Amino acid sequence: MKVKRLLPRNGPRPLVLVIMDGIGCASNTEGNAVSHAYTPHLDWLLAHCPFTLLKAHGTAVGLPSDGDMGNSEVGHNAIGAGRVYAQGARLVNEALATGRLFEGKTWQRLMNYCRQNQGTLHFIGLFSDGNVHSHLDHVKKMLEQAAFVEKIERCRVHILLDGRDVGETSALEYVVPFEAFLASLNQQAGVDYRIASGGGRMVITMDRYEANWDMVARGWKTHVAGEGRFFASAVEAIETYRKEIPGVIDQDIPPFVIADAHGPVGPIRDGDAVIFFNFRGDRAIEISRAFEEEDFDKFPREPYPKVAYAGMMEYDGDLHIPKSYLVEPPHIENTVSAFLCAEEYKQLAISETQKFGHVTYFWNGNRSGKFDESLETYVEIPSDRVPFEQRPWMKAAEITDRVVNEIASRNYDFIRLNFANGDMVGHSGVYQAAIVAVEAVDLCLGRIIKAVQDTQGVLLVTADHGNAEEMYEVDKKTGRVKRHPNGEPKAKTAHTLNPVWFIAYSASQVVKMRIDPSVKDPGLTNIAATLMQLLGVEPPTFYDPPLLLFEF
Ligand code: 3PG
Ligand code: CO
Repeated sequence: MKVKRLLPRNGPRPLVLVIMDGIGCASNTEGNAVSHAYTPHLDWLLAHCPFTLLKAHGTAVGLPSDGDMGNSEVGHNAIGAGRVYAQGARLVNEALATGRLFEGKTWQRLMNYCRQNQGTLHFIGLFSDGNVHSHLDHVKKMLEQAAFVEKIERCRVHILLDGRDVGETSALEYVVPFEAFLASLNQQAGVDYRIASGGGRMVITMDRYEANWDMVARGWKTHVAGEGRFFASAVEAIETYRKEIPGVIDQDIPPFVIADAHGPVGPIRDGDAVIFFNFRGDRAIEISRAFEEEDFDKFPREPYPKVAYAGMMEYDGDLHIPKSYLVEPPHIENTVSAFLCAEEYKQLAISETQKFGHVTYFWNGNRSGKFDESLETYVEIPSDRVPFEQRPWMKAAEITDRVVNEIASRNYDFIRLNFANGDMVGHSGVYQAAIVAVEAVDLCLGRIIKAVQDTQGVLLVTADHGNAEEMYEVDKKTGRVKRHPNGEPKAKTAHTLNPVWFIAYSASQVVKMRIDPSVKDPGLTNIAATLMQLLGVEPPTFYDPPLLLFEF
């Protein structure tokens, strides 16, 4: 028997890649919804198949540091692109550190527009240092530049409370120091900069993949019209809502508008400039469309002021959304789908709405289009519009129904799918629901294993980053779970730094696979070349190396 690095072109079919979103691998025993869930199929795969652990966070996926947890954008970018690209968080840091951002024509245009119209400069975005969609340091640097260098007199900041990429009730840890920062800016530069409106990121503005445009409509009303419940300050709004809705976490806090004796302090008006400061695109596209599209029909924009708008980055490289942006995005080229289309392989990408763009748009390097209409099929199963802790099974069964049929049909060479459950339910912080979520995924995995056995195909199981395996916050110093005064563990809603599994199962008796021990420190970027070796296509030399060796 000979060891080979490439299967023949007419090797086993289909190749199925399951991405268990937000299901990482960790040894912690408390709050680990993955190890505590009943997962006979995952356990069977781990007992019988070659597997390894992949890095899914930090510099391995193009983030600024190894302290940065993984996320779905960088994770799917890495899987689809086969090598590491410096990602949004890093590119914005660099553009600010070198001053390039401020020299760019977009920044200059916005500043001039404000000055010419005596308008206000608005910032809208995710208000935390989570570094998944945004970073507060970026906003502060831009405000300083606006105040000291550009001499912009009035700025308003519209804050989307996080509690999803950072501690679930950490909003005041950001708002209080930020108010002090604004006060000192106002004093030192003689400007008038204030927080003007806000609300939880899962309530207003940051919808994705058109799952629920009402969120964006509510955001418009709050930030642009300045309509809603008035408060004297963001602190007052957050404290009031926390009292009124016991147990509410930041991402779910209702909208608020800051007002004084004259009314709302910062509605958006003709002649103003608006910067949406998130660098990540999925949850920035809809609000950008609302600002930019002339004939927009998703909700009535009342009012629709004439403003100069820019996003932090280009969010969609195919549709060019937004038209104007501050920092060039990573130009992710030669993704694995492009190679597989060149080889005329038929491919299916499927998920439910919440993760649909992950296996299409993120997978293809933040491009929403296809490479080849005749070879690629994208299937979106509509997600429920409910808090996912109430339906932790989500649409896993419906996705699986379709996948199982398509495996049996032998219509596709390569099928990729994403199960959203581990991640979306992990973000709720509800431990019991996260266990159900992981078990739902495992139940579906069992059906897919069976379908792959029936066709003698190949199944790969992995994840884009961790989440559900760490449902409690851990004190970094003591290593112990943090607790509320009543002794209950403090829920963790964010992603993790943990690695993910990469399991390879060949149902065919002919093909024996094993993990190539010469690949050191593997990460998500090694998956693309692995897909190619399994489909009998030599991976390009600029891809990170494939993970498998074969005997047949
Ligand atoms: C979100 O947008 O829901 C979170 O910030 C990140 O989750 P994702 O990277 O898994 O989509
Ligand atoms: Co997530």
